[in-house]
Amino acid sequence: MDNVFPSSHPLIATKLTLLRDASTEPKKFRELVRELAAMLTYEATMDLAVRDVTVQTPLMETAGVKLLERIGLVPILRAGLGMVEGVWGLMPGAEVWHIGLYRDERTLKPVAYYNRLPVQPTVGVCLILDPMLATGGSAVAAVDILKQWGVGKIKFVGLIGAPEGIARLHAAHPDIPIHLAAIDERLNEHGYILPGLGDAGDRQFGT
Ligand code: PRP
Ligand code: URA
Repeated sequence: MDNVFPSSHPLIATKLTLLRDASTEPKKFRELVRELAAMLTYEATMDLAVRDVTVQTPLMETAGVKLLERIGLVPILRAGLGMVEGVWGLMPGAEVWHIGLYRDERTLKPVAYYNRLPVQPTVGVCLILDPMLATGGSAVAAVDILKQWGVGKIKFVGLIGAPEGIARLHAAHPDIPIHLAAIDERLNEHGYILPGLGDAGDRQFGT
């Protein structure tokens, strides 16, 4: 499928294996989420536009580059929160805009509960951070919100995607690149990804 980028990096695959392990405790789990988010973002941002600048080294002036557009990191509360720190380390000048969405347990539909975006967009590129792309309802809702805000370029950075969720996000927003550590087999009858890693929010926050 166009615009879907599962990572093939062995370090990402190794860390994802530890993340899946049911015996991995919240402290280690958070560390892995942070590291995987940074590694996936490194892959997802290969095409960011830059402009030429000059820099003065201790010896002489030389050519360099600076990111052309302002970047917004958009963690989807709450599980996306754990991805922020690792990504922010790569681009400390990025703005962080939180969006609160939870999945209704019965209907599996996303429910929006937090959004304090200002009227005008303040960034040119948004990276949506959410570890799980299950039915795709939350991701589609997040992209809808950011497009309505007026952001020109949006990317989805997640850890695990189910084929159902990837297909749904791609069908609704084919222009959005989807970057993942892995594409899993399917959803179970409760909308959980198999084999997956369980509930990404509960495993990070110990709930
Ligand atoms: C999880 C996950 C996504 C959503 C994915 O959040 O972080 O936001 O489910 O499911 P979907 O693709 O079917 O919409 P959850 O609703 O569990 O909320 P939480 O992060 O607050 O635990
Ligand atoms: N949300 C999660 O945290 N895990 C899943 O498998 C699906 C949705």
